[in-house]
Formats: sequence, structure tokens, C-alpha cells
Amino acid sequence: MAVSGAFMLLYLVLHMVGNLKIFLGPEAIDGYAAWLRTILEPAVPFEGTLWLVRAVLTVSIVAHIWSATVLTLRARRARPVRYAVRNKVAGSYAARTMRWGGVIVLLFVIYHLLDLTTGTLNPHGVHLQVYANLHADFTPERWYVTVFYVLAVVSVGIHIRHGLWSGLQTLGWSTNAREKKLKGFSTVFAVVLTAGFLSVPLAVTFGLV
Ligand code: HEM
Repeated sequence: MAVSGAFMLLYLVLHMVGNLKIFLGPEAIDGYAAWLRTILEPAVPFEGTLWLVRAVLTVSIVAHIWSATVLTLRARRARPVRYAVRNKVAGSYAARTMRWGGVIVLLFVIYHLLDLTTGTLNPHGVHLQVYANLHADFTPERWYVTVFYVLAVVSVGIHIRHGLWSGLQTLGWSTNAREKKLKGFSTVFAVVLTAGFLSVPLAVTFGLV
């Protein structure tokens, strides 16, 4: 879970920073999208690097879901008889929100790909016209799309806050002395990532770009 999560996290950081190009204008963000397709050219063919990243992400998503399923089944097997009295402890609350949170994030990603990658669900939906696609998506008349994105991105943030902290523990970086610092780091990381992502739909809806 930790290793596949780390790949997806790295992608999300780059994706969020790339999205901020919208604040530099249409040429900047559309040019950036075009550049993404030419990385390592001519050593690598057109879109070659992009497809490599897509392959790594796909393997990471499958590995992440597979690990989550194995862990859930193992937890169930370890406790086949349910507790008669179940106190709400912090650990089990986090685990529950991670499972359902993960499903919500996955559904959002499927919608998001149909919206901004294939353009199928986007009112403009023209390949490589990222600025126009984003404006068509988050125009004030379609405020409900912005609200949906805000809720989805906050779910991503919550998932990452707990996931990053769990991952750092899995990788053995957490000691008693470091626990508080790593928890704080995970929270700050998730908040910055979430704020960066949210800034784009909100800026479009409120007419700032
Ligand atoms: C709310 C802020 C977000 C905006 C404005 C945004 C925007 C975009 C745009 C414009 C594209 C198409 C880029 C291109 O074709 O060059 C894209 C692709 C993508 N986005 Fe986002 N995104 C956001 C949040 C997210 C989040 C939170 C995730 C993951 C949880 C995500 C995952 C992806 C993925 C996997 C792709 C496909 C990349 C590819 O294979 O071409 N995005 N996004």
C-alpha cells in the first residue's frame, strides 16, 4: 500500500503544481499540456513518457486496491466474531474512512478522466485546450460541478492525510520521538495539496482567471 501510494502521491504533487499554470494564462497551461506529450522526445516517441506514467499509475492503483482488499479480509479473518460491544476507537474510525474514502476517490478519478482527459463529459471537451475545458467545466452556471470537485478533492485530502501517515509508519520512519512531527507533516502536506487543487476550480468559478 505504501509503495503504490507513494507513486500516486508523487503524481498528485506534480499534477497540482502543473494545474497552477492556469494562473499564468491560457498559453501557459495549454503549452504545458502539449509539453507533457513531448517529454524525452526524440529519444522517446510522442506521448511515450505520458503513457509510461499512465502505466505506472494504473499498476499502482491496482496494487493499492489489491493490498487494501487483502488487508481488509485479513482483519476480518482475525476477528470472525464481531464484538458484542464496539467502542468507537480512533484506529477503527480511520480505517473505515480510508476504505470508503478510497472508493469515493476512485469514482471521482473515473469521472475526472471522462471530464478532462477524454473530454466526453466536458461541455467544451477539446483535446489539449485545457484552459477552455476548465472554463467550460467550472463556469458559474455549473456551480454544482465546482461543488462536486471541492467535495471530491477534500476527500482526496483526508485520504492522503491518513494514508501518508500510515505509509510513513509502514516504511519504518516513525519512532515515538518522531510520531508527532510526522503526523504534523502529513497534515500540512495534505492541506497544501488540497488547497492547491481547490484553487483552480474556485478561481474559475469566481472569475479570478
Ligand atoms: C480539482 C483540481 C483538478 C484539476 C483542475 C485537474 C485538471 C486536470 C486536467 C486539465 C487534466 C487533463 C490534462 C491533459 O490532458 O493534459 C487532468 C488529468 C488527470 N487528473 Fe486531474 N485535476 C484535478 C484534480 C485531480 C485529482 C484530485 C486527481 C487524483 C485523485 C487527478 C487525477 C488525474 C489523472 C489521473 C489524470 C489523467 C492524466 C493522463 O493520463 O493524461 N486530478 N486533470
